[in-house]
Amino acid sequence: MDPSRDNPLLRFATFWWGFGTFLIFALLLAVILIFNQPEPTSLEDAAAVPRYATRAKVDAAQAANLSPAALDAATLVLAKRFASMKPVAVEKPAQVIPGSETAKKLAAAPAVDTTAIDAVTPEDGPPDPAVMAAGQASYMLCAACHGQNGEGGVIAPPIANSEWVKGPISNLIRIQLRGLQGAITVAGKEYNMPGGMAALSYQTDEQIAGVLTYIRNSFGNKASSVKPEQVAALRSEVGKPQITAAELTKP
Ligand code: HEC
Repeated sequence: MDPSRDNPLLRFATFWWGFGTFLIFALLLAVILIFNQPEPTSLEDAAAVPRYATRAKVDAAQAANLSPAALDAATLVLAKRFASMKPVAVEKPAQVIPGSETAKKLAAAPAVDTTAIDAVTPEDGPPDPAVMAAGQASYMLCAACHGQNGEGGVIAPPIANSEWVKGPISNLIRIQLRGLQGAITVAGKEYNMPGGMAALSYQTDEQIAGVLTYIRNSFGNKASSVKPEQVAALRSEVGKPQITAAELTKP
């Protein structure tokens, strides 16, 4: 007969040894489970799932509606159309690098004769509404400095009630093609803005004629229309240094 069998103290100790061993293994299992958890899915991966599903749907819909044969046929038609198209002449803006030989030559060029341009007899009647509409759209650029209503401000002199705007057409064309610097008196007030106005010669003859016709017939101004041919006649001015009020024809 085993003397330990009925020893309560020994039974008690054995129970705790067994329980302790169980706990150690349970703890080990818990640690293994904690460190072996599967990677949590990132937000990006989760968001990509519906995207891939949508893309698969779109691909399937496209494949059902656009057969490769139909695409090939359409490509052929378009290619033929492109091949028979006439290229459109692109007007390159004149670029003259400051300080270059070309710039020096232009600065030394003799003054243009503006009398013929200003001698054009103005047509009777109001300006062409289509030209005015195009001019108004182009004026958005000028409005940045001269104001929505040509009122002028701290950046630029006014267009409204300016004797220069209502005066000789060649002045306006030359200001736009060359820019303007130095002191200028507009409606009895002298302006001399630092840097002056930069040339805006990249616009086409039609665009310049339109915007100038617009300012000559808006904001209370009333004067003859400007014709694209008048702008074209002064294109040789492009690239010359900013013009000064002294070089302009007195209004
Ligand atoms: C970046 C600002 C700026 C823009 C944009 C601008 N101008 Fe000017 N403009 C000026 C400044 C500054 C002067 C005065 C220059 C000086 O002090 O010599 C001036 C002067 C003038 C003058 C002569 C003075 C007067 O008020 O009558 C006319 C005309 C003129 N600009 C027309 C135009 C037109 C047309 C456009 C658009 C195609 C235009 N400007 C765009 C700044 C600008």
